[in-house]
Amino acid sequence: MIFLICAGGVSLAVTLTVSVALSVAIGLVLAEAIYFKKRFRDLKFSFGKQSPRLWSPKDRFDPKKDVTTVRKDPNKDFVILAFPDIQVWEPFRLGKKYVIYNTIKNAVKKTEPDMIVLLGDNAFYYSRQCCEKITKIMEEIGLPWAPVFGNHDFEGNADLAALGDIFMKGAHCLFRKGPRNLFGEGNYAVNIEQDGKIVHTLFFFDTGSGAFSYDESKVRYVKASELKDKSPAFYKTRIHEGEHKGEIRIGEDWGAFSYDQIQYYKWLLAGIAEENGGVKPESTIFCHVAPYEFNDAYFEWINGGCDPEKGFGEMNVKIGSAPVSTGLFDAVLEEGSTKNIIVGHEHENDLSVLYKGVRLSYAVKCGDECTAFAETLNGGSTLTIDKDGRGIRYENVCVPLEGKRHYDKMMWYYHELEKEEDEKWTMIEEEEAKNGNA
Ligand SMILES: [Fe+2]
Repeated sequence: MIFLICAGGVSLAVTLTVSVALSVAIGLVLAEAIYFKKRFRDLKFSFGKQSPRLWSPKDRFDPKKDVTTVRKDPNKDFVILAFPDIQVWEPFRLGKKYVIYNTIKNAVKKTEPDMIVLLGDNAFYYSRQCCEKITKIMEEIGLPWAPVFGNHDFEGNADLAALGDIFMKGAHCLFRKGPRNLFGEGNYAVNIEQDGKIVHTLFFFDTGSGAFSYDESKVRYVKASELKDKSPAFYKTRIHEGEHKGEIRIGEDWGAFSYDQIQYYKWLLAGIAEENGGVKPESTIFCHVAPYEFNDAYFEWINGGCDPEKGFGEMNVKIGSAPVSTGLFDAVLEEGSTKNIIVGHEHENDLSVLYKGVRLSYAVKCGDECTAFAETLNGGSTLTIDKDGRGIRYENVCVPLEGKRHYDKMMWYYHELEKEEDEKWTMIEEEEAKNGNA
C-alpha cells in the first residue's frame, strides 16, 4: 500500500500516517467484532432438558427415584445454612475479591454447616454464567447443597431447566427437576438419614414468578390505622386513593404454591412415611416466596406484643406473598410433619415467627446485590436439626461486608429509591394531616 501511495507522488510521511490510521481503524473494527461476537455468544439463550418424569397421585412412591438422601453424623447436630437472593447478574461479581464470595465463605466459616440451601433469585441477566460460577463456589466448599428457583432466575440467558442442568453438574448438588407436569422447576425432596433411619425430610419448591389469577373479592384489606404504630413496614404501603383509601392490601402479586405442588408434597410425605416404617419424619420446607400465612403469623405476633419467645428479627418491608392463600399452610397443619418454612424474596426482612406450631422464617439476604440494607442484613440463616431429627434452633447469621462492592452506582440507586419513597410518604402524611384523617 505504501508503495502504491508513494508511486502516486504522495510524501512518505503522509503515506505512513495514512497507513497507521488505516491499521488502527481496521484493528478497532476487528476488536469490536470479536467483542460483540463474544457478547452475543454470552447472551445466547440456552434451553435445558425437560424432566422425563410425569407424576400422578396414583403413582407408587419409589424411594430411589422420588427422593435423594444426605447422611447425618449421629454424634452431632445437623446444621443447614440457607442463602437467599444472591441475585447476581454478572459472573465476575462472584469473584474472590467481591462481597458475595466473601459473605458465603465467612458465613460457612462462622456456622460450620453440614449442608447449604440456596433460596432462589440466585441469578439473572447472565444467569447461565452466574449459575456456573455459583456451582463452582458450592463445589469448592464441598458440602451437599440444594437450590430452589425464585421469581428472577428465569430473567436471564437460560431457562430454568438449563440452570438446573448446570447445578446438577455439581457432584454435591442435590437439585432435582421433579415431575415436569408440576408447576415450576425443581420440586424435590431430600431425606436426612441417621444410622439408616430417616430422621428429617427437606422439601424444596419453586414458587414461580407470580403470574397466576385469583379471585379479587378474596383479597384482604386492613385499616391502616390498626397497623400505624405496630408495623411501619405495612403502614407505609397504605392506599391513598380510590375505594380502599386508608387501607393496606395484604399480599402482593408474587408466586405461590399451586394445587399440584401441594398434592405432591402430601404424596411424598406419605411415601416417605411408608419407607420409614410408618413414621412420618419431621420436615422443613424451603421456597422463595413466603406463603400467605406469613401475614397471619406476623399480625398475631405484633398484636400479641412481639413476644421474643415466639419471634425475632426485622420486618422492614411488607410481606410479598401472593394476595390469597393457595392452601399450602393448611396442608402443613393437616400433615403435622413440617415445623419450619424458610423463605427469601424480601431482601430487607429477617423475621422469624412461631405460628400454630410452625416456625415461619425469612433468611438473611446473602450479598450486596439489589438491596439498600447490605450494611446490616448480609449473611444467611441456619436451621439446626438434633439427633432425633427435630429442628431445634433457627438463627440469623449476619457477617460484615468484606471485599469489593462493585456496584456503588447500584447502591446509590437503591438509596435514591429509598429516599424517594420516604419523600412520597412524607407528602402523603402532610396531606392526610391537612385533611384531618392522619
Ligand atoms: Fe424474589
